[in-house]
Amino acid sequence: MIALKEKNMNFIDLFAGIGGIKLGFEKNGFKAVFSNDFDAYCKTTFDHNFSEIFQQETKLYLKDIAQVSSDKFPEFSLLTGGFPCQPFSIAGYRKGFTDKGRGDLFFEIIRILRDRKPKAFLLENVKNLKTHDKGNTLKLIYDELENLGYFVNDAVLNTMEYGDLPQNRERIYIVGFLSRNEADKFVFPKKIKLTKTIHDCLLQYKVDDKYYYNGKPLHEKLKDDVNKRDTVYQWRRKYVRENKSNVCPTLTANMGTGGHNVPIILDDYGIRKLTPRECANFQGFPSEYMLPKIADSQLYKQIGNSVSIPVIERVAKQIKKAMGL
Ligand SMILES: C[S@@+](CC[C@H](N)C(=O)[O-])C[C@H]1O[C@@H](n2cnc3c(N)ncnc32)[C@H](O)[C@@H]1O
Repeated sequence: MIALKEKNMNFIDLFAGIGGIKLGFEKNGFKAVFSNDFDAYCKTTFDHNFSEIFQQETKLYLKDIAQVSSDKFPEFSLLTGGFPCQPFSIAGYRKGFTDKGRGDLFFEIIRILRDRKPKAFLLENVKNLKTHDKGNTLKLIYDELENLGYFVNDAVLNTMEYGDLPQNRERIYIVGFLSRNEADKFVFPKKIKLTKTIHDCLLQYKVDDKYYYNGKPLHEKLKDDVNKRDTVYQWRRKYVRENKSNVCPTLTANMGTGGHNVPIILDDYGIRKLTPRECANFQGFPSEYMLPKIADSQLYKQIGNSVSIPVIERVAKQIKKAMGL
């Protein structure tokens, strides 16, 4: 009985990045038996934590998912995947050609679900997937999943409303079950009160000088607008955007590069960008999770691409309940 339950808790973690979804599921007793991504920098961060710090057996399997055969995976009951955000071209799909390596990655998920038929899955993506191509993209996703026999449900959840984390991050979560009974039992988590403030995520000491704008050309452009201590601002190439609700704006993959969406604060020592560690805090990564010594630009990308762990944790809990595990 116990062995069966354990088997039912096994999942494969596709587009695993640095393991955000894995962390949320494993907090509920699920076990990732296979994690895949094709980004070597993600592997550095992933293995540094799961293999070296947490002493787990699984390392990130580095390969283009399109090149991974469905029989490569050990037995699993659940599939998870925050597949890449670039919305795929339905027009292209309908015409019968695919945009290899970008848009058709969803169909790699379909291939694996078809071949291995796990009991359930969780997919995560940007909120815009819901409205993309007037809702046709999501409809196609539903059609494909339902054709395989899954009962599917989705919700857009904002981290600041569902994760008790001060980040304004809306994401779509798509959950499916092979069993109608389990699908009927599944409900998305309810809203919870936001008790944390940005100061729970910010480092309370002077960080490395490289993060401060003092004496740098951009300081002139920032100094008049960045003037409050309880706000995370965003530098958007030409202007400063203030987030009114005292939460951090959505952290994005490009926040570390070229002046896109850079999250900025004012502290005792001046105006600066958030450090990668602070960004990880705003996604709910636990303090034991360590960022390796790789380029900051890679860390910002990995963390922006990742998920809010407490939201995943709460969704995973509901999946576990619905499956009676
Ligand atoms: C939105 S991120 C998911 C991040 C993950 N949920 C996390 O918590 O870190 C998408 C990931 O898909 C990976 N990816 C994109 N194309 C891929 C492919 N063809 N094969 C494998 N991984 C791919 C990217 O490297 C990226 O890490």
